[in-house]
Amino acid sequence: MIQMELSVIILAAGAGQRMAVSLPKVLHKLAGKTLLERVVQRVEGLAPDHIHVVYGHCGDQVRGELSHLNVNWVHQEQQLGTGHAVKQVVPHLKDQHLVLILFGDVPLISTSTLQSLLKSTPKNGVGLLVAEVDDPYGLGRIIRNKAGDILAIVEEKDATDEQRKINEIFTGIMAVPAFKLSGWLEQLNNNNAQGEYYLTDVPSMAIEEGFLVTRVPAVCQEEIQGINTKVQLARLERYYQHALAERLMLKGVTIMDPHRFDVRGDINVGQDVVIDVNCIFEGHVNIGDHCQIGPNCILRNVTLGAGVIIKENSIVEDSTIECDCVVGPFARLRPGTHLEREARVGNFVEIKKSTVGVGSKISHLSYIGDAQIGHEVNIGAGTITCNYDGVNKHTTVIANHSFIGSGTQLVAPVVIEEGAVIGAGSTITKDAVSGQLTLSRAEQTTISNWRRPVKEKKQCAE
Ligand code: UD1
Ligand code: CA
Repeated sequence: MIQMELSVIILAAGAGQRMAVSLPKVLHKLAGKTLLERVVQRVEGLAPDHIHVVYGHCGDQVRGELSHLNVNWVHQEQQLGTGHAVKQVVPHLKDQHLVLILFGDVPLISTSTLQSLLKSTPKNGVGLLVAEVDDPYGLGRIIRNKAGDILAIVEEKDATDEQRKINEIFTGIMAVPAFKLSGWLEQLNNNNAQGEYYLTDVPSMAIEEGFLVTRVPAVCQEEIQGINTKVQLARLERYYQHALAERLMLKGVTIMDPHRFDVRGDINVGQDVVIDVNCIFEGHVNIGDHCQIGPNCILRNVTLGAGVIIKENSIVEDSTIECDCVVGPFARLRPGTHLEREARVGNFVEIKKSTVGVGSKISHLSYIGDAQIGHEVNIGAGTITCNYDGVNKHTTVIANHSFIGSGTQLVAPVVIEEGAVIGAGSTITKDAVSGQLTLSRAEQTTISNWRRPVKEKKQCAE
C-alpha cells in the first residue's frame, strides 16, 4: 500500500464551453449523479487524507449544489489552465504528501486503476495514467524517445502532424510528490497555442531535473473518457447503463432489453426478478426477490418486498411496498405511500402520504391522500379523500374490513369505523359507525312530461 500521506486534487473550475450550455460541466449528470460527485466517490475508495476540489466557473452554483461533499473547496478566480488550477492548492499541501491530480470531467475512473497508479509512482518521481485510444483527437499525446522513455506530453493544439498520429494519450490523471510540485508549477509559462498554464508541462520538467516519470495504462477506454461535449456524455451514459445491465443479468436478473434500461442512482435487485423495457430507476431502489416490473415504469427511492408486481406505466416515488402487492397499470404512488403486504392498487389511482393495510384493494380511479387504511378494506371506483380544505391537510381513517362504495367523497378529517359500509355516491362528512351502512344521497326522482331539448333550425339569411 501507499506509504505516504495522500492528497487528492480534483480540477473542476473550467467552464466546459464545449458542452454549449450554461450549466457548469461538472454539474452534468451521468447515471443520475453529477460528474464531480462520481470522481469524488471513486477517490474516496483510496481513503486519502485530503480531497481538494478546485472550483471557479459558476462557483456558487457548483458549491451550492454539491455542498454535501466532504471536500476542501479551493477557488480559482480565473481559469488560466490546468497547471494554474493545481497551483491554487499548493498552500494546502505538505511536503511529505503524494499528490494525486484528477479532472472533474473524467467520471468513470476506477479506484483500482488509481491504486495501481499510486503504487507504481516512484518515491521521487511522477506517475502518469495513460491510455491507447482509437481516436486521440483533442487529447495530450505521450511523446517518447527511441528507447521508449517518456519525454513530454504535447497538447493537440501544439502538436506537429507527426505527433498527432500518436495514439497513446494522457488521461489527465497524474501522481506527483508535493515537495517538487510547487517548484515545477512556479516554472510553468503560457507560451503555447492556448495561452494557458498547462499541467501537462510538469512531466518534461521532472525529466529535465532527472526525476523518473513512469506510466500506468488504463484498463479500458471508458474509465478514462473525459466529457467535453454532450455527445461524449450520452455515449458514456449508454456504456455505463449497458455495463450495469450486464452485471445484473449475470446475477440472474431478466432485463428484457438492456438497451432500454436506465438506473439513475443505486439499485439492489434480488433473485428471479424480471424488468421489462423503458423502466427508469432513480435514487435508491431496492427490489426484492421474484418481483416483476412492467414496461414504462418509473421507480424513485422505492423499496419493494418479495413478489411485488408493478404493472406497466406506473410511477412510484419515495414509497415502500411490502411483499406480494400488485400495483398498476397506470398507478401513481407519491411520496409517503406505504402498501402493506398483498395490497392491490389498480389503474388511475393516485396515493399520497398514506398507508394501505394488508390485503386492501383500491382498484380503479381514486385519490387517496393523508389516509390510514386498515386491513382487508375495499375502496370502490372513483373514491376521493377530500384531504385539503384550501388551507390545511386533514387525515382520513378507514378501519379494517370496511367497504367504501363507488363514487364516494370522504371529507377529512373523518373516520370510517371498523366494518362500516358506505353507500355508493355518498359525500361523507361525519364519522361512519362500525358495522353499519352509512350513505348520503339525494332521493331519486323522475320528472314526468319532461322533453329533451330539440336543436333549433338556423334561419336562412335573406
Ligand atoms: C486535458 C489535458 C490533456 C488530456 C485531457 C484528458 C491539459 C492542458 N490538457 O485537456 O492533456 O489528454 O485533459 O481528458 O491539462 N480546469 C480548471 N481550471 C482551468 C482549466 C481547466 O479547473 O483553468 C479543469 C476543467 O474544469 C476540467 C479539467 O481541468 O475538469 C480539464 O480541463 P479541460 O479544458 O477539459 O482540458 P482538456 O482540453 O480536456
Ligand atoms: Ca476535458
